[in-house]
Amino acid sequence: MKENDIIIRLEREEDYRKTEELVRNAFWNVYRPGCVEHWLIHVMRDDPSFVKELDLVMEHKGSIIGQNAFARTVIVSDDGSEVPVLTMGPVCISPEYQKMGLGKILLDASLEKAADLGYGAVLIEGNIEFYKHSGFGYSRDHGIRYHDMPEDSDQSFFLCRELLPGYLDSVTGVYMTPEVYFVKDEDADEFDKSFPEKEKLKLPGQLG
Ligand SMILES: CC(C)(COP(=O)(O)OP(=O)(O)OC[C@H]1O[C@@H](n2cnc3c(N)ncnc32)[C@H](O)[C@@H]1OP(=O)(O)O)[C@@H](O)C(=O)NCCC(=O)NCCS
Repeated sequence: MKENDIIIRLEREEDYRKTEELVRNAFWNVYRPGCVEHWLIHVMRDDPSFVKELDLVMEHKGSIIGQNAFARTVIVSDDGSEVPVLTMGPVCISPEYQKMGLGKILLDASLEKAADLGYGAVLIEGNIEFYKHSGFGYSRDHGIRYHDMPEDSDQSFFLCRELLPGYLDSVTGVYMTPEVYFVKDEDADEFDKSFPEKEKLKLPGQLG
């Protein structure tokens, strides 16, 4: 595949269902039997925290093969102030296009756009093995803790990347996941009924 066959652009309303199908295919049985991320993106778009200017899709020859989304949130700093940051996801590449470098291309383009828009940092839950290639490190190394977790717990899933160099230098505190990310399994299951049936499988490597 040639890199210049790939377009990264803002999602349009007419893409919504196609994007949700993509998200469902990419996340299905990866982190749990079935998935909730197609429902999450569906509800996120209407949430005030959603960053419309960073609602991105990757297109190959007219088909949507990747997507990335961001929401605004804060770090509640230990000095009591709130530091605006972004969180990211769902992000995915269609299964048949994975491991070809496209995830990194999409991620890097998204982060560049977020930096251009003036955002200072992105904090996410994810696997360092993928995100380290795009400059993410452990949030604990910046003195930022994940909400509602004991201080000494393993937070190696919790990653961050500055967009403005030095943005987190003098910040220590607690990151808050935007409320919209806490979708209910029952709502996701109900939404899922509007898609073609797919088997939910319990597989090794899933969370919990
Ligand atoms: C994660 C995902 C977006 C990566 O996209 P991709 O196009 O396959 O990734 P790339 O080919 O650009 O990989 C870039 C690097 O990250 C590594 N990588 C990619 N996915 C990885 C994963 N799940 N775990 C560990 N490393 C990963 C690759 O090995 C590659 O490293 P290398 O250059 O040293 O080989 C894609 O696999 C996906 O959609 N997965 C399902 C949904 C998901 O898990 N999303 C992320 C939620 S946190």
